[in-house]
Amino acid sequence: MSCLSMKSLLFLLSIPCLCSGQPLPLALRFSTFLDAAKVFHLHWDHDENEVMTFELRVRTTGWVAFGFSLHGKITGSDIMIGGVHPDGSTYFSDWHGVNEKTIEEDESQDYELLSLTEDKTYTTVQFRRYLRTCDPNDLDITIDTQRLIFAFGIDDTVQFFKGQRMVKSLFLMLVQSPDGYKQPSVSLEYDLKLNDFAVPVDETTYACTFIPLPIVKTKHHIYKFGPIITPRNISLVHHILVYACGNHSVLPSGVSDCYGADPDFALCSQVLVGWAIGGGSYQFPDETGISVGTPLDPKYIRLEVHYSNFDLIPGLIDNSGIRLYYTPELRPYDMGVLQTGVFTFPVHFIPPGADDYKSYGLCNSSQFDEVNGAPVPDLHVFGYLLHTHLAGRGVKTVQYRNGEQVRFICEDRMYDFTLQETRDLKNEIIIKPGDEILVECSFQTLDRTGITFGGPSTLNEMCLSFLFYYPRNNISSCMGYPDIQYIAQQLGQEASDPMEGMMAVNMVDWDNDTVKSAEKAAKDADQIVVIKTIDVSNFFWSGQDNPTGGARAPGLGLAAAGPEAVTLWSTSATTRPSGSNQKA
Ligand SMILES: *[C@@H]1O[C@H](CO)[C@@H](O)[C@H](O)[C@H]1NC(C)=O
Ligand SMILES: *[C@@H]1O[C@H](CO)[C@@H](O)[C@H](O)[C@H]1NC(C)=O
Ligand SMILES: *[C@@H]1O[C@H](CO)[C@@H](O)[C@H](O)[C@H]1NC(C)=O
Ligand SMILES: *[C@@H]1O[C@H](CO)[C@@H](O)[C@H](O)[C@H]1NC(C)=O
Ligand SMILES: *[C@@H]1O[C@H](CO)[C@@H](O)[C@H](O)[C@H]1NC(C)=O
Repeated sequence: MSCLSMKSLLFLLSIPCLCSGQPLPLALRFSTFLDAAKVFHLHWDHDENEVMTFELRVRTTGWVAFGFSLHGKITGSDIMIGGVHPDGSTYFSDWHGVNEKTIEEDESQDYELLSLTEDKTYTTVQFRRYLRTCDPNDLDITIDTQRLIFAFGIDDTVQFFKGQRMVKSLFLMLVQSPDGYKQPSVSLEYDLKLNDFAVPVDETTYACTFIPLPIVKTKHHIYKFGPIITPRNISLVHHILVYACGNHSVLPSGVSDCYGADPDFALCSQVLVGWAIGGGSYQFPDETGISVGTPLDPKYIRLEVHYSNFDLIPGLIDNSGIRLYYTPELRPYDMGVLQTGVFTFPVHFIPPGADDYKSYGLCNSSQFDEVNGAPVPDLHVFGYLLHTHLAGRGVKTVQYRNGEQVRFICEDRMYDFTLQETRDLKNEIIIKPGDEILVECSFQTLDRTGITFGGPSTLNEMCLSFLFYYPRNNISSCMGYPDIQYIAQQLGQEASDPMEGMMAVNMVDWDNDTVKSAEKAAKDADQIVVIKTIDVSNFFWSGQDNPTGGARAPGLGLAAAGPEAVTLWSTSATTRPSGSNQKA
């Protein structure tokens, strides 16, 4: 993808600027309110010419601003500012942030105005730009989570720093809108939600509860999920995740902190769907759905609702959750979820004071047929959900075949913990049994003084990439972790077994050099690969979050819970794909 300037865009297609009257009728597939107060409404779409078109409607008759920022900062940001004067004349131009107190108009104007109109209530501006312009003062629109920056004033004297200004994470490179899919003629609805939950007076709450899936006598397919947000509470509910549980007989009842004192509230780790503030409904491709009503299917889910009660408002009662849509009209294939990444427990660690520390987890799928109990058909992957906790800054999932890199399956270099959502791949991809899947996560721990270990709490870390695929097989997860003894030895510590290895990394004097050495050792180390199945009697849908039922590496003195359900083996550093630094 090369950068392109506005001049070539103008050659491509020229739309005359409509600078009065009604906005142009544009068919833009995606839309969302950018803020909880619904002042900013954004429509957008992108095309094969790498052009993104926007329509921004703002509840003001003053100036409006919209653009891109690196980390929510003004320094280095790329902003368009426009409006309609009381006499009907318009202004519109491309700016950039010089520092936190100054913005400057760009010499190269790379936002093309399509229309700019105003009525008594709203200012509506339609414009477009290339994903990558040639101007170093602009920011690229990428497949990463974007940090949008937007502002408005109440009159047409542009005072950017005096206006109301907000920042929001949004993923713009959506590929499918739910309207693009077939709707079944029979559709049933079922709500997975909290009932009159008293939201604590805390900035952040992760409320978890276990809910049965719909009980049906015959097989049905869940084909769609949509948010149910208690009206007016939109700013309170930050994100929602739904995880599948296996046939687990002892799930706790009630609602509790997902990652608090009772570890059972973190059971069931197989993500089925993720929704984040600003998101809409999500529908699976026409070929596939989640099977319910057969013995192999999950019976329960864990609902995790993340609340942000930043204003510490007491007495809030909430009934939010996810509505699922299911149908007896079966699709050709059952959907499966393959969890890949770093095996969380017990050896994943991230040193403190790291600006960008990378962890690697390898899935070697050459044992899939054996673990599955029957030949595994090719996995048709259509979507993904990336997951780390608060220190995560990026996740990348790379596919290898016969030691050669095949492709980046998915990547987000601007990961935002608060925007965990199911995303579609642009094109379905095939994973063949025998392929390797390497997940690389970047973490930032500059604000931490101690080691961050892998674990279910939000202050512990995870590095996961959930791949949504069809047709379903028996395998639920395939993850890897580096040989901790090797890492400890590379750091100059003695370790005769993995447990000593874990204790040894706590003895290291962390500075930027030892952080780099640890990262290199973790990258070079052999990986121990753990494959788990959806074992209905052994509830292997719960996974690495479960400290009592998950798999253990040999040598730690802990037994694997089910002999058929878990396979462990090492891969050697010499045959392992060497990182993922070159793009396919
Ligand atoms: C959330 O909704 C309830 C009504 O269900 C309302 O009483 C409460 O004030 C709302 N909270 C916010 C922050 O709007
Ligand atoms: C679920 O577990 C119960 C108790 O262990 C068992 O009786 C039942 O057959 C299991 N169901 C399936 C579908 O395996
Ligand atoms: C799952 O495993 C069983 C054996 O335990 C096997 O008969 C069945 O074919 C497998 N299912 C799939 C979809 O591969
Ligand atoms: C590494 O360098 C950065 C920037 O100089 C610093 O903020 C950080 O604390 C250092 N990390 C460690 C572990 O010393
Ligand atoms: C994956 O496992 C197979 C069989 O154990 C082995 O031959 C192959 O080298 C492994 N791949 C990597 C990258 O280690």
